[in-house]
Amino acid sequence: MNLDQMVEKILITEEEITRRVKELGEEISKDYAGEEVMVLCVLKGAFVFASDLIRAISLPASINFMCLSSYGSGTTSSGKVQVTKDLDCPVEGKHVIIAEDVIDSGNTLHFLVDYLKEKGATSVDVCAIFDKPSRRQVEVEVRYIGFEIPDEFVIGYGLDYAENFRNLPYLGVLKREVYEG
Ligand code: IMP
Ligand code: MG
Repeated sequence: MNLDQMVEKILITEEEITRRVKELGEEISKDYAGEEVMVLCVLKGAFVFASDLIRAISLPASINFMCLSSYGSGTTSSGKVQVTKDLDCPVEGKHVIIAEDVIDSGNTLHFLVDYLKEKGATSVDVCAIFDKPSRRQVEVEVRYIGFEIPDEFVIGYGLDYAENFRNLPYLGVLKREVYEG
C-alpha cells in the first residue's frame, strides 16, 4: 500500500499550505524590518515547515534546531517536555522565531518560550503552521498561525504517526485501521 491509500481525508492541500507559508514569511519580514531573525526549528515535526518558512522570509535569517519530546509513539501528550537535542549556538541578543508544526496542549511551547528567554533571547515569537485551539491545556501567546484545525490527529507536512507520514506534502487524517493495526 502506498501512503496516500492510508489517508482518510486531506484537510489542507499542498497548494493552500504553500500560499499560507508565503504570507507568514511576508508578515514576519514586515514586522521585523531592519532586523535579523533566528528561526528555531522544533524537531522533528517542524523541519518541513521551517525550511519553507525561512525561504519565505526576505530578511537576514539564521536557523537553529532543538529537539523536544512530549510524545511517546501514541497520539496524546504526556505533559512533560524533554530537551533531547539542545541549542548549538547562542540565542543571546537574537530575535527568535520559533517554527512549530502544531500546537496541541501548548506544553511544548509553554516550556520553550521560557527556556529561550532564560537563555537571553531579545524577543521570542511563535509561528505555528497548524493550531488546535480546542486542545489547549496551558495558555501560550502565538503571534503567527497558519491554520486553525479541528481536534483530530493529523499527519503530513512534517507531522508523524509513529515516525511515518512526515513526507506527505499535505495535511491529512489517517484511516482508522492504520492506528488499530
Ligand atoms: P503540545 O506540547 O501538546 O502542544 O504538542 C506539540 C507537539 O505534539 C507537536 O509539536 C507535535 O510534534 C505533536 N502533535 C500534536 N498533535 C499532533 C497531531 O495531530 N499529529 C502529529 N503530531 C502531533
Ligand atoms: Mg513538534
